[in-house]
Amino acid sequence: MSQTRRQFLATGAAAIAATALPRAAGAATADFVLEAKERPIRLPGCGGPTLAWTYAETWPLALRVKRRQPVTIEFRNGLKEHSSIHWHGLRIPHAMDGVPWITQDPVKPGDRFTYSFAPPDPGLFFFHPHCDDITALSHGLAGVIIVEDPREEGLFDQEELLVLMDWRVKDDGSYDTITTDKTAARAGTFGRLRTTNGQLAPAYQVRPGARLRLRCINVDASRIPLLDLAGAAGQVIATDGNACAPFPLAAWPLGPAMRADLALIAPDEAEAVIELHDVWQSTPVVLARFEVAGEPLPMAGRDRPLALPPAELPEPDLANAVKLELDLGAGVTDPAVAEFQKLFGADEICTTQRVFWSLNTRAWPGMAATGKPEPLAVMKSGTSYIVEIFNGTPHRHPMHLHGHTFKVIGSSKRDVPVHWADTVLLEPKERLKIAFVGGEPGDWMVHCHIIEHQETGMMGYYRVA
Ligand code: C2O
Ligand code: CU
Repeated sequence: MSQTRRQFLATGAAAIAATALPRAAGAATADFVLEAKERPIRLPGCGGPTLAWTYAETWPLALRVKRRQPVTIEFRNGLKEHSSIHWHGLRIPHAMDGVPWITQDPVKPGDRFTYSFAPPDPGLFFFHPHCDDITALSHGLAGVIIVEDPREEGLFDQEELLVLMDWRVKDDGSYDTITTDKTAARAGTFGRLRTTNGQLAPAYQVRPGARLRLRCINVDASRIPLLDLAGAAGQVIATDGNACAPFPLAAWPLGPAMRADLALIAPDEAEAVIELHDVWQSTPVVLARFEVAGEPLPMAGRDRPLALPPAELPEPDLANAVKLELDLGAGVTDPAVAEFQKLFGADEICTTQRVFWSLNTRAWPGMAATGKPEPLAVMKSGTSYIVEIFNGTPHRHPMHLHGHTFKVIGSSKRDVPVHWADTVLLEPKERLKIAFVGGEPGDWMVHCHIIEHQETGMMGYYRVA
């Protein structure tokens, strides 16, 4: 970034690791080497260390890559269970999507797998495993990948990445309950310790008049903050990493796996403070602070609109789109579930015997080498689809589709601006329409990103033929 960025480092103790791990000796070919394993980290206010699962020595980890440039990432599995890496939101080849048994064999403990792709779209994306995710994500096994686009150079004076996560830990740093049947069947389990970049409401310095970009990502498995700013007016300029027509920030919901890029101009008065809030409860929770200090930046920058170059994504043909429905259900009426569960080996870590949720009345409570259900629908590559999602449950669900970026085109309940996304939040009893063009052939997962919902039935896939 600009000089400004270098002058104003994050004041918090654990500033983001901005780039890759150094290449490991002997592994000369990959651009990045990520070794998943248990590493102790220090969480704020905890008396002892927390045994996190991480991909690197620093948490959170952010990789920066360039749009359309090939990148290779070697994954080494130092965990005691098999794993893989799903590149959430990146429209990359099916074989690189990182879903065990669907797109690749699971990577066994001690084994390696090299991912290689050229990310087609700029923005902020997410990566994580795709099995036993309630354990893995609760232990912090997640990372961020920022795809840079030369079109965005010089648009902002400063940017900060804000990774939101609750830790399910006790005061001594050891883990608390990660899931229960009761919470899995409701809104999910919440952690006690709410962090941003692994800290409690970290503070950053910004100069008066600075054009500031906040790249926010929610890597939590359950929490849905409502983002708002105090002390400055903000615009939402990208959703799930994709540029949108800017709209004013006002209690924007950021479900698990969702991203929002916020833009604002820092006020002129030195000593002003801007805060990023979660306004879900009547008393806002401060997620991050921005302290205005130093020499003001020139007036000239303040008149340019706060916006990104338009997204360049396949545009669905709404007039000729094929229409499909996706019903989110609680409880299960599918007699096949009992049969299906019998197919699972007792010790398969990706599966569960608990079933609380369904898609189109069918549940898929986890993955296994055997027992894959039928697809939710069969699509054609290049054909446009409109999927009407109906949430018939009393809970909220951030629904994610792999391998595609869809357009959210309307809701029965809310005034949602048209925007691109790969994960969209459904309110109870809401009907919401998304549209997209069928992508690369393959089986692409569709699931709720409240991980306890995903792992107790709210999961399926579209087959693109
Ligand atoms: Cu972020 Cu299927 O996942
Ligand atoms: Cu859900």
